[in-house]
Amino acid sequence: MFPKKPPMGFNTWNTFGENISDAMIRETADAMVEKGLLKAGYEYLVIDDCWSEKKRDPVTDRIVPDRVKFPEGMRVVSDYVHGKGLKFGMYSCAGVRTCANYPGSFDHEFLDAETFAAYGADFLKYDYCYKPDYADGTLLYRRICTALDNCGRDILLSACNWGADNVHDWIRSTGAGMYRSTGDISDSFVSFRDIFLSQLDNVKFSGPGCFNDIDMLTVGMRNRGNVASTGCSDLEYRTEFALWCMFGAPLMLGCDVRTIDDTTLKLVTNPYLLRINQDEACRPMFAAHKEWDGQRYVFARVLTNHEIALAFTNLSDNDGTLWFPFDAIGLPVSAKKGLQLTDAFTGEDAGVEKEYMRIPVKAHDCAVFIAKVVNL
Ligand code: GLA
Repeated sequence: MFPKKPPMGFNTWNTFGENISDAMIRETADAMVEKGLLKAGYEYLVIDDCWSEKKRDPVTDRIVPDRVKFPEGMRVVSDYVHGKGLKFGMYSCAGVRTCANYPGSFDHEFLDAETFAAYGADFLKYDYCYKPDYADGTLLYRRICTALDNCGRDILLSACNWGADNVHDWIRSTGAGMYRSTGDISDSFVSFRDIFLSQLDNVKFSGPGCFNDIDMLTVGMRNRGNVASTGCSDLEYRTEFALWCMFGAPLMLGCDVRTIDDTTLKLVTNPYLLRINQDEACRPMFAAHKEWDGQRYVFARVLTNHEIALAFTNLSDNDGTLWFPFDAIGLPVSAKKGLQLTDAFTGEDAGVEKEYMRIPVKAHDCAVFIAKVVNL
């Protein structure tokens, strides 16, 4: 499958871990529709690890859904999810066991692809634990992509090898539609900051067909659930979401959408930030300005419609002022033009600036604008 824009959806892992069930998936599907998340673009509902029995069926060799968590099997769950207008995602692993020690797909790729197709899956997250040392990771992702391409269903492969083996160099050639480039996120500012910064040099490898996945969002988790850590403030969550949007990363929600709070819902359905993330040109973001500490940046991203997104980002622990000259985005003083700004968080008109901008940004916060070049 060749996604043209960063995929959007929800994944069970961050909040639920192994505590998944038929009822929980159905309730999540209901919530994604009722709260307007599907309408905003969050279309995939992905079941992560821990969905199966610990052993394959001895007769058919197929993976079997957990009989307690999914007593009626997966097809009924998938039918329910599809009935809501959503797409259905499953999880497996390139190794012999999944990361949480359930059966993996190693040497069962074609059989499992057929099983996932029979479930009605539209998406498969494919992890990297328990890979035999002698098996080449590149080859294993080629195998599963070939298997999916020949299973009779369009299934997006979401590779998850955490950035190992210089994955950005070869993953696009396998047919994967997105690829995890980092280790696991946890619900803390330090975690999302380090993950984001680690991929600044790799943003150029991300684009239509194969997107760099910097992990499921922790926005709105409020330190509850499987990847709880220190938790984040509202200000930190909005920075996380804005950076994922600027980066053009897949947006997979990780909070419990059944109980999502109003602040989080408003943030993740913000039309300006989503416009930046889903811009059809998928041009890479770049650092238009970087402070000496490597923690304060002005990121820019050229959008379609002659617009440019700007994110004044303060990832340091001190409040500060961020500055950048418009020349850094190709607008020299000699052009005698200015930037008309819209505040992406509020949608408010933020006026016209010329030559440069200098604004205060609190520690861990960011200010995001959508700008248009105008005559002065
Ligand atoms: C790995 C992945 C996570 C999650 C778990 C499940 O750690 O990186 O995103 O899928 O496995 O066990």
